This record gives sequence, structure tokens and C-alpha cells, in this order.
Amino acid sequence: MKKFTIADFNIYKAQAQKITMITAYDFNHAQLIAESLIDTILVGDSLGMVVQGANNTLNVSLDDILYHTKAVRRGAPDKFIVADMPYLSYHLDSKTTIQNAGTLICAGGADAVKLEINNVNMLSQISSLTDAQIPVIAHIGMTPQSVNVFGGFKVQGKNEAQVQHIEKMAQFAQDAGASAIVIECVPSSVAQKITKTLSIPTIGIGAGNGCDGQVLVLNDLLGISKHTPKFAKQYLDGKYLIKNALNEFSYEVTSQAFPSDKHSY
Ligand code: KIV
Repeated sequence: MKKFTIADFNIYKAQAQKITMITAYDFNHAQLIAESLIDTILVGDSLGMVVQGANNTLNVSLDDILYHTKAVRRGAPDKFIVADMPYLSYHLDSKTTIQNAGTLICAGGADAVKLEINNVNMLSQISSLTDAQIPVIAHIGMTPQSVNVFGGFKVQGKNEAQVQHIEKMAQFAQDAGASAIVIECVPSSVAQKITKTLSIPTIGIGAGNGCDGQVLVLNDLLGISKHTPKFAKQYLDGKYLIKNALNEFSYEVTSQAFPSDKHSY
């Protein structure tokens, strides 16, 4: 399988070929993704919710993302990996932003970093990173790190002012040097218009079918998340399958069917 590189974002868009992205947080799942047709992996700060069990992503640290990025890189040595910049790792000044992103690239093994962009002040961080030769994916729309500003995880782009804001963020992020844009939880029509306007690709999550690609949280896709959002399709009934396996193990131990001679020395 040909390795997806940063250049492929634009090549795929030009060829109208959809880009696939999935989150991953550990070695085992990364190995499976490495053997799949998925183009790119996101070590998302969603790990705060799906791995650590928090109610939002604000508690995730740079060390958390670094730890999980290293594990995913070991499992998927040839996949294009995007590491999420966690809350406050890119909000202070450009020097800290470059240092933190550089750590995820150099020590973590990521190919690019992702930043949530919800106001014009944050755009300068994209240009600082691209100047430092670090590829950036911007994330707009319902940016989970803005949960306290939004007053919850609410669909964005539902009124004209919000639509104009999101369109502006998309255009400015492209102008600042972003290589692609994740658009989360906005009406399909808004994402479709942005996708047609931009020269860089859009990757949607809860943003309809008009984007240049799609990203899902792995645990949602596998059907093992505590809450599955409306936009996430479950491709496996993971909860059912895993609970069945656990109960079967429990039953076989109590009934002394396991371990058999086959599993003994
Ligand atoms: O952290 C994450 O998993 C994300 C995706 C939802 C796009 O940002």
C-alpha cells in the first residue's frame, strides 16, 4: 500500500478521491489500522473522553498526547499520523506552540499536528508552525476545546452569524498555511460550501457528505463508546461482542472448561 503523505491531501482533493481518517490511541488498534485501507490516523484529544473517561477534552496534557502518539507510531510505522495539540499547548505564544508541536513531531513521531481554531488570534499559531516546517491541520466548527464558550457540545453554524464566522475561520486557516481542515458538527450545507470554496481539503465529522473526507472516533466506529453521537455510524457491535467474550471467559473458568490441556504447559 502506498504511504499517504502531506502532498496527498491536495492530490486527493484534485482527483475527487475521499480521504479517510480514524482516531487511534494505542499500539494494538494502530496495528489493525496499519493493515487497513484507512489513509490517516488522528491521535485525538478525544482520548480524554474515550480513554480517560472525562466529560470533555480539557484535561488532556501534551504528555498524554505524546505517550499515545508514540504507541500509535509503533503500531503503524508507515501511516500518516496527525497528533492533536491539547488545550493550552498552543494558546500562549508562538515559541511554546512550536516547542510543543515539535515535541509531538520529533519525539512522538507524528507527521502533522491539529489545532482547533475558533478566533482570529489563534491563526498566527498556524503560520508560526508552518514557518517552522510543521504541517498543520486546522479544526473548525464545533471545536470541543471551546465547550465552555459554546455552553456544551452544540452544533455550530445554525445561524447566519455563526456561518459567517466558520467560513471566515476556514478561509483564514487556509491562508495561514493549513494543509487540511477538519469541520466538526455543522450543517451539511455549510461544510459543502466551504469545501467548494477552499483549495485545501476538508475532513468532516458530523458535517455531512459534501466534505473531501471523513473522520470518526475509533471507539464510536467499533461501538464501544459510552455515548455514541448522532453523526457516528457504528460499524461493529463492539459492546455486545466484548461483553459476550468476557462472560464466556467467566463461565468457562467457573465451569472449569478453561484452561484446557491446549492452553496449559
Ligand atoms: O480529538 C478528536 O478525536 C478529534 C476528532 C473528533 C476530529 O478532534
